Amino acid sequence: MLPKPFRALILGSSGTIGSALLHLLQNDPDCERVTGLHRHSAPAIDYDHLDTIELAYEALKTEQPYHLIINTIGALHSNQFMPEKRLADLHSSQLTQQFLTNAIGPALSIKQFSQLIDPAGGVYATLSAKVGSIADNRLGGWYSYRASKAALNMLIKTAAIELRRTKPNLILAAIHPGTVKSSLSRPFRGDELGREPHHAAQEILSVLKNLVPADSGTFKSYSGEVIPW
Ligand SMILES: NC(=O)c1ccc[n+]([C@@H]2O[C@H](COP(=O)([O-])OP(=O)(O)OC[C@H]3O[C@@H](n4cnc5c(N)ncnc54)[C@H](OP(=O)(O)O)[C@@H]3O)[C@@H](O)[C@H]2O)c1
Repeated sequence: MLPKPFRALILGSSGTIGSALLHLLQNDPDCERVTGLHRHSAPAIDYDHLDTIELAYEALKTEQPYHLIINTIGALHSNQFMPEKRLADLHSSQLTQQFLTNAIGPALSIKQFSQLIDPAGGVYATLSAKVGSIADNRLGGWYSYRASKAALNMLIKTAAIELRRTKPNLILAAIHPGTVKSSLSRPFRGDELGREPHHAAQEILSVLKNLVPADSGTFKSYSGEVIPW
């Protein structure tokens, strides 16, 4: 669905996968322009301050249309918490923060930034995680990360159903990037088990470039396979 040339926007371009995608698109001959937003960009996007989403949207409005938007913002752990191993580890503060970063911020971003996409055709992808799949949950643990990504998936699916009616050429997708060497995965043997960020970015971009309108509202892996919700 991407025209040639196309314009792209990366949300979370300070992150490992976000910066790899930004770099890849900066060197993509089909990409006319790529903009990256993060907590310290101008405009900034910060899910601890949700008003920044609308402010960033207003600032980018003059630059529309975009054809590819990839939201890479997400968190698994912080200075205050690590993923829960057992029910006894559940805390409202961690659940609240994880839902804010992984579901509420990304959903409000879809609400605003999807309006920047060319109605003639475009892709809005949000990075989710396979551990957010309810059907695939065999190991348990990681309560707030799993639940917030499952909520994200439902929000994407619901928005895709609505937007299919009004903007049939806009594709909304949830993408699992696979394990990637990053600050997010590092405490969980990410450097040992993960792929290089530039390699993951190439795979993600290749999946996104091959999406068709029928893929809107699906959850896809970096390899292109559909992941059950
Ligand atoms: N790496 C993996 O193995 C893996 C596996 C499955 C899914 N994912 C998903 O892929 C995405 C990218 O992960 P990554 O590995 O690139 O992680 P990362 O290097 O930690 O990058 C995370 C990005 O999210 C931003 N962010 C975090 N909290 C934020 C907040 N409250 N407001 C605004 N921005 C915030 C970070 O901004 P700062 O730079 O300002 O902190 C950074 O840009 C995430 O959604 C993650 O859940 C990753």
